[in-house]
Amino acid sequence: MAAPAPVFKSQAIELPADAAVFPDGPNVKVVTRNCLACHSADMVLDQPLFPRATWAAEVTKMRNVYKAPVSDADAALIVDYLAATHSPP
Ligand code: HEC
Repeated sequence: MAAPAPVFKSQAIELPADAAVFPDGPNVKVVTRNCLACHSADMVLDQPLFPRATWAAEVTKMRNVYKAPVSDADAALIVDYLAATHSPP
């Protein structure tokens, strides 16, 4: 005799407010498209305010060490976003 098919019910869940989105800023769509495949936005947002050169090195590290598939053009736009939104004044 076949077992009855399991019944799945969807549940409403509440995600923490700091979930997986980047705050608005220049090129935010490019950042969202390239930087959320492997970790949440918090991995970036929880970092200290870094100067542009540090962000450029960080994006290079994501590409070279972790093989993030980011084009040269997108990498430049992402560094612009990070320098504009997450750098010391
Ligand atoms: C291919 C996967 C992948 C993609 C795509 C990716 N990352 Fe990462 N990222 C990682 C891994 C793996 C770590 C290290 C995680 C850990 O230490 O637990 C990391 C960590 C980080 C950290 C923490 C500091 C550090 O160096 O460990 C920052 C900041 C960061 N990523 C920024 C970015 C940005 C900006 C993008 C978009 C350009 C991006 N990541 C896209 C894999 C990726």
